[in-house]
Amino acid sequence: MTKIFSPLSIGKMEIKNRMVAGPIVSNWADPEGNVTTRMIDTYSERAAGGWGLVVVEATYIRPDGNNFRQMLGLWNDRQVVGHNELAEAIQLAGSKCVLQIMHGGRTARYLATEIQPVSASALRPWNVNPRELSTEEVEEMVDQFGIAAGRAKEAGYDGVYIHGAHGFLITQFMSPFTNNRRDKYGELMRFPTEVVEAVRNAVGPDYPVMMRINGDEFLGEAGITLDLAKEQAKALEAAGVDALDISCGGFESGWHQIQPPYYRRGYLVHLAEGIKEVVSIPIGVAGRINDPTLARTIIEKDRADWVVLARGALADPEFPKKFAAGRIDDIRKCLACGEGCLKRLFMDLSVTCAINPRVGREWRYQMKPAANPKKVLVVGGGLSGMEAGRVAAERGLDVALYEKANSLGGTMALYQGMPKLHMREFTNIVDWLRRKLKTLEIKVELGTEVNGESIQGFGADVVIIATGAAPYMPDIPGIDNPFVFTEDDYLAGNVKLGSKVVVLGGHWGAETAVSLAREKEVELLTLVEESEDIGGSLDGFRQIVTKGYLEEENATILTQHKALQVVNEGVLVIDRNWRLTTIPADTVIVSMGRVAKDQLAKDLEGKVTELYKIGDCNRPNQWPILFAMEEANFVALQL
Ligand SMILES: Cc1cc2nc3c(=O)[nH]c(=O)nc-3n(C[C@H](O)[C@H](O)[C@H](O)COP(=O)(O)O)c2cc1C
Ligand code: SF4
Repeated sequence: MTKIFSPLSIGKMEIKNRMVAGPIVSNWADPEGNVTTRMIDTYSERAAGGWGLVVVEATYIRPDGNNFRQMLGLWNDRQVVGHNELAEAIQLAGSKCVLQIMHGGRTARYLATEIQPVSASALRPWNVNPRELSTEEVEEMVDQFGIAAGRAKEAGYDGVYIHGAHGFLITQFMSPFTNNRRDKYGELMRFPTEVVEAVRNAVGPDYPVMMRINGDEFLGEAGITLDLAKEQAKALEAAGVDALDISCGGFESGWHQIQPPYYRRGYLVHLAEGIKEVVSIPIGVAGRINDPTLARTIIEKDRADWVVLARGALADPEFPKKFAAGRIDDIRKCLACGEGCLKRLFMDLSVTCAINPRVGREWRYQMKPAANPKKVLVVGGGLSGMEAGRVAAERGLDVALYEKANSLGGTMALYQGMPKLHMREFTNIVDWLRRKLKTLEIKVELGTEVNGESIQGFGADVVIIATGAAPYMPDIPGIDNPFVFTEDDYLAGNVKLGSKVVVLGGHWGAETAVSLAREKEVELLTLVEESEDIGGSLDGFRQIVTKGYLEEENATILTQHKALQVVNEGVLVIDRNWRLTTIPADTVIVSMGRVAKDQLAKDLEGKVTELYKIGDCNRPNQWPILFAMEEANFVALQL
């Protein structure tokens, strides 16, 4: 048997395989932090996917430790009831489960708590200046971790998983970056080891105690380095932890923790490997392990004892089950796009997955056989059209899909081929859908344009229009100049670049600008954006990394600048002080959003019994992947 499918002992707990569904704050609790039915539904579905262990998301142990509007809590006895239902639902579905207990410390969200955040030291404000906990208050905090662990045990979880990573309160004590105390807790490992001891005292010697720590804080010598993490791991093992899960980063380096698509897969494995050398307890690792072959190799090469898939478990809750059955091609691999999960969490909204919008909304997206046979015509082979076709066909409907271009995938297919920025992960969903259409034997006609008249000749009961959106072109003089192109032209390889490039539009255009700035022909790149910031359509970490890349390439970023005219020498812009400048350019790339291509839908109104419009041709620009997939499911499930 491949080692990844073999059992693993964590203290006295045995997990059936080495695939762990990692913790993901969902914002699905109620405002008091209580477990909700949707949490039970989602976790139950996740557990049924075959994970050896499901880690229930970060759960605050007292009201001032809360980071999000609807974060899960376990700070009073009444909450044990909901947690018990959650734990039992996961176990019933076949997985072991542990609860992650945490306190946000200086990063707690003041708007949710209305209490001044507390920390190891009054350092590094995040939302609001933190207050240093007194020695007595730290001792009280230690006890409260113990109490929360006792409640987790009472609720029936198979173990407890202490959050000592990611810059939350425990890391704030463990890191020189945030701890300059002068009392006994100035010793970096004092607080975390006391927490472990308090937890151990509360749960007894046989109950599994796991902990997540940073293998690197990615702050250089100012923070936790791998060498320091090794010492910390040894201290935690000595304090009684049964297993360590290695992650990284803090609020000032979070993109290393939740990596964008441009970071390599298995980004943190070297850290787990390093820590494994110095301790004898089992070690797990997370971070862009979205692929079964990679997961298997990490375990086979003994680089870690288990792998954690956090976003991967949202994108495909059945990852382990499909893997075990040899259905590797059937796994819907996470894109690291951040669109359904991280971006929404940063906005303090509920988390889902852009390519699996069922997550957290299972009751709305029930896959049931269609009540009546219907002929469904899908027009458009981008993401929304493909997904609508797939879902309708899985429900037993007779589906045909027509696409004007010679290939499937629409804008996603263009984006995944970004020449100088690694966006290849986006192929995951296009390829997955392509395979599904094939397996489901959906009739797919490429290179075939249909119109209002020809559609009526198909005799379809249902027509789903998924014709996408075209790049928006601003109505300014000179825009029809031959050296002005759209972002799509560049991505399709249809632009002969000059040395001076201006990109108009800095939101989606920020990533394209990185790729352009890295092209060997390009000596000068200027990004012009009307609003105050760039990269605003991306999740917060993708945005930060993209900005960093632009800085590395010495790109000029002009925010609060509006393009007025394209002239022979370049682009005439105006700034917020009404100053006019001509930015030199021999190539202009426009990336200012998209306009719905919905003419066909308009032509068909009143002429087809059931007509739907989905994806970019319905709502462009907002959540391009999520809305495409959501609308496709919403429509195809009601046919
Ligand atoms: C939306 C979101 C919420 C997260 N919530 C938690 C959490 O509750 N606790 C935690 O330790 N890590 C949390 N993480 C980090 C993940 O557990 C994981 O370490 C990280 O996403 C990298 O692994 P992945 O590529 O498998 O997602 C979260 C990540 C995301 C995207
Ligand atoms: S939204 Fe994107 S990053 Fe998040 S889980 Fe889904 S595919 Fe992965």
